[in-house]
Amino acid sequence: MKLYNPTKVYFEKDCAVNHGREITGRHILILTGRNSAKANHSLDDVLAGIGPGVEVSVFDEVESDPTIETVVRAAAQNRAAGIDFCVGVGGGSAIDAAKAVAVLLANEENADLEKLFYADRNAVHLPIAAVPTTCGTGSEVTPFSVLTDSAQGTKRTIFSQLYPQLALVDPKYLETIPYRTCVSTCVDALAHLIEAYMTTRANNYNRFYSITGLRLFREFKDFLKGPEYFERIDDAVREKMMACAMFGGYAIATNGSGLPHGLANSITHELQLAHGRSVILFIPGFLRYYQDQTVVAEILKLLGYQCVDELEDDLYAILGCVPVPVDLWNREIDKMLSNAHKLSSYPFQMTEDILRRYPGKLFRCI
Ligand SMILES: [Fe+2]
Repeated sequence: MKLYNPTKVYFEKDCAVNHGREITGRHILILTGRNSAKANHSLDDVLAGIGPGVEVSVFDEVESDPTIETVVRAAAQNRAAGIDFCVGVGGGSAIDAAKAVAVLLANEENADLEKLFYADRNAVHLPIAAVPTTCGTGSEVTPFSVLTDSAQGTKRTIFSQLYPQLALVDPKYLETIPYRTCVSTCVDALAHLIEAYMTTRANNYNRFYSITGLRLFREFKDFLKGPEYFERIDDAVREKMMACAMFGGYAIATNGSGLPHGLANSITHELQLAHGRSVILFIPGFLRYYQDQTVVAEILKLLGYQCVDELEDDLYAILGCVPVPVDLWNREIDKMLSNAHKLSSYPFQMTEDILRRYPGKLFRCI
């Protein structure tokens, strides 16, 4: 059993302003997307919080599901400045990009990228801070940075352990989150909580994170059922959503994600779906055909459901059904069955026959 998380977290209103001074250095690089960090004032808060006499550069071109090319460009534009701290302000994309740039800027400009990102578990990196403004990835407390590898048509996780040194988590940034973005990030958090509970490495100590997060999800899930419900969320609900995502982050940081995340990578890329939107497609099948239904019953109870059908019906009402081309699904199955690392997260024998039963209300093959 191992419990480890080195990230110092402030989870409170105005924490970016009040604790931004803990982002220290001579020259800080902030990575963010083009719009949302300005619209929800998280960027202003971070700039206000950083102490006097510190130089700050902002790279605001991080797209959703950032590519390797984007982080390489961000590093190239800022290498000469002598950056000594990277800060991601935004959703998981901005935070993951900050983590990747922290690796690039701590290493030689001409370093072999394939080795640096995907072979070296101990690649050095600059200190990282995270200011999340969505409620999905939990990247603010995980060691993971996931980038899109356009050449391979998939997403890949950097091998090195990229825990932020500091996370400034303020639920007020959810005040301006669009309904659809909130849904797709919340269901990503839900998948993290479920998968981490069910992996080979799960035990009573680290399941604590999932249990706490699943209970929180139960308390706010009805607000996701449509824009008319979503309009009614208040500060207390936003706090639960943000905490749920962070507990999902703690859960996967400790236990890793499971098969649904492994199945979703190419589907996300090829169908241009939001990450959470594609991961959640596999959750009903994953639960329904999991060989230990006692564990599934525990999860459903925490979420307030009697059976998988009830959960699937709720998700279908929110998300509808995604048509997935049969050749894409076949490729995902083949990749999964040859992915020894992912399969090792599953406590039982996974077979093609089981995976072929996964399509249901949330996705069908065409
Ligand atoms: Fe995820």
